[in-house]
Amino acid sequence: MTPRRIEFEILRYDPDKMQKPEFQTYLVPCEEDWVVLDALNYIKDELDRTLSYRWSCHMAVCGSCSMMINGEPTLSCKSFVRDLPNQVCIEPLNNFPIERDLVVVLDDFLGKLNSVKPYLIPREKKSLEEGVYLQSPAQLKKFKQFTLCINCTLCYAACPQYAHDENFVGPAALALAHRYNLDSRDVGRTARQDVVASNLGIWECSFVGACSEVCPHGVDPAGAIQQAKIASTGDYFMDLILPGRKS
Ligand code: SF4
Ligand code: FES
Repeated sequence: MTPRRIEFEILRYDPDKMQKPEFQTYLVPCEEDWVVLDALNYIKDELDRTLSYRWSCHMAVCGSCSMMINGEPTLSCKSFVRDLPNQVCIEPLNNFPIERDLVVVLDDFLGKLNSVKPYLIPREKKSLEEGVYLQSPAQLKKFKQFTLCINCTLCYAACPQYAHDENFVGPAALALAHRYNLDSRDVGRTARQDVVASNLGIWECSFVGACSEVCPHGVDPAGAIQQAKIASTGDYFMDLILPGRKS
């Protein structure tokens, strides 16, 4: 089959050389089975070696090839060109500063992930000799969906609340906190609550649900945040009934 020629309009920005970002257009002969990442690799290999973008796995696993494709936060390795029109606009992810071209600065996101203590905090630490922490399939099922996050940050690019207030902890970090809070082997919920249940945490979310719509792995961060709101509301009433108890 003859390759289809698609015009890619790509936002370029080199902070060392340019005052502001500008679009540059490339005509790419695309094969039927290509994804947008293949077209970017063609541009890089054949047309313009200066184009910068992140990618690694080419199979929707590493989460590094996120960008805006025709205005939608998308993994470029999951977006088939056969589903796109003959003109495609590619921009860096919304709501993040541009490092260069399609590469964005992720420091804020990584700091937020870290702030929710996204790791198992067990009641008692075990040595390797003592073996693993056991869990039943039913206990795993309670949080398994929230383990599927690949940290692609598409949910942050889609979130109007994060666009409005960059201090919002945001969808993926809150979903990950919820994932550990639901884990039967974890006792770290109290340590996470200062961040999770703060005004910049779950209560900043207005439940638009755009995060869950763009999530490529069906994590449903919006659902996780609403579940966390219900649990925190329960804490509030329990504290009224039993003051001094530990939530
Ligand atoms: S929750 Fe979904 S959209 Fe957000 S970072 Fe994780 S995988 Fe990406
Ligand atoms: S290259 Fe890894 S998710 Fe796209």
